[in-house]
Amino acid sequence: MHVIHLSVECFPLAKVGGLADVVGALPRYQRKLGVDAWVVCPYYDKPFTRDNHFSTIAKGAFFQGSEEFHYEVLKETKDSLGFPLYLIRIPGKLDRQEVYCYPDEAEQWIAFQHAFLHWLKNSQIKPDVINCHDHHVGLVPFLMKNADDFKTFADVKTVFTVHNGQYQGWMNWNKGILLPAFDTWKWGLLDWDGLINPLATAIKCCDAFTTVSLGYLQELYEQANGLESLFSSEAAKGYGIVNGIDDAYWNPAEDKLIHVNYDVESSKKGKAKNKKAFCEKYSLDETLPLLTYIGRFATEKGADLLPEIIVHIFSNPENKISIFILGSGDVQIQANLQALLAAYPGQLAAFFGYHEALAHEVYAAADMILMPSRVEPCGLNQLYAMKYGTIPIVRGIGGLKDTVIDVDVRNGYGFVFPEADSTDAVSAIGRAVDYIGQRGKMQRIRRKEMELDFSWDKSAQQYINLYNRL
Ligand code: ADP
Ligand code: GLC
Repeated sequence: MHVIHLSVECFPLAKVGGLADVVGALPRYQRKLGVDAWVVCPYYDKPFTRDNHFSTIAKGAFFQGSEEFHYEVLKETKDSLGFPLYLIRIPGKLDRQEVYCYPDEAEQWIAFQHAFLHWLKNSQIKPDVINCHDHHVGLVPFLMKNADDFKTFADVKTVFTVHNGQYQGWMNWNKGILLPAFDTWKWGLLDWDGLINPLATAIKCCDAFTTVSLGYLQELYEQANGLESLFSSEAAKGYGIVNGIDDAYWNPAEDKLIHVNYDVESSKKGKAKNKKAFCEKYSLDETLPLLTYIGRFATEKGADLLPEIIVHIFSNPENKISIFILGSGDVQIQANLQALLAAYPGQLAAFFGYHEALAHEVYAAADMILMPSRVEPCGLNQLYAMKYGTIPIVRGIGGLKDTVIDVDVRNGYGFVFPEADSTDAVSAIGRAVDYIGQRGKMQRIRRKEMELDFSWDKSAQQYINLYNRL
């Protein structure tokens, strides 16, 4: 079976969040199971493209509105990621240093999707399944069935994976003329509430859609940023498949980015050594429990609650913990956190920005990780944290609810709180600190977490089962 994953992120080519981690791992695990899985991404001017060798395998041109775009398809020659990686380059549009936040984003992603189908058609490549990831490539299932030039793909099955339904790729209707010519009476498939909505279009036109956890699938029927009724009416083609961990890269026993390697047996000493080195570097007290937050500063992640939580904790001198924050995003949240650094020297430290290697160090050094998310389709941080023996304190929502069981429940190993507010979060942190302060308990749940199986093998097979069913 031949499957093409289409995405604008893929680790280590271009990563903003978990989408990259999934697209950079799932295809490799699918290949191990006998599927010929490829990945197609936009070209980026980034270290990965500069440091690896690519060969041009195809060229072409098409009109986007009145503008003619020339594209080139590059293939990474060594398949160093464990799967064939193809990049589509369009000078001036798909050759940038960042993934998101350009004013012409709609034009970029329309061009990417058009060039992708143009290339497949001209090269006579006809996969069995195209697995599109998130709204940036949500128009592909529509174009394959309704665009004049691409109806040859009408019988190719499409799976659309929803990594985050909050973002939908909305465009004004004046962008409609940029699309390849399509059956105009089908315009309603592109529309949601008066805008072109690529996520809605994908859900309407795909053969099946997946969400990155089962819990999130159920939540989308109730809360999907305006698409609740659509998800409900299309529920028959929805499947929840939880994300996995790429254990070739996220494994404390082999991770080259951490201070000292450790496995379950050596985790007590191993984590203590990592924590010591880390605390020395950031002037934190290694004898206190170390709590961390890693992630985007976004309200969806509950990052706006962090300042309140920190003040709440440190205003009580009896609360003896250290906190380390690694993140970037909303500037106001960052400014609020920055102001607190001066107020709590030696207790609070942070790195503002994206730092892949530091994230590994933090997972290895911390005792607890906090995720006060308002929305969390899956969440990879809690999975990585548990693999590194770091105890998750999470709001019980979406994938967090599916992957973390509270210690108060039989066989539990984490701390789950009901609402995304600072009071609930602080009380869960208090519960966690009390618990791990009791003799032997920390090591017992740490062991349990490190032994959980969140590897990709099972989920990769579930995707394949779905492809087969189509
Ligand atoms: P999301 O994709 O919604 O941001 P996930 O939990 O699925 O959330 O994935 C986040 C990924 O991004 C993880 O690999 C995490 O380690 C990483 N990450 C987030 N913020 C940072 C940061 N500032 N520096 C390094 N890695 C980060
Ligand atoms: C999105 C979600 C996150 C998920 C990731 C990978 O970014 O916000 O919860 O883990 O995609 O699927």
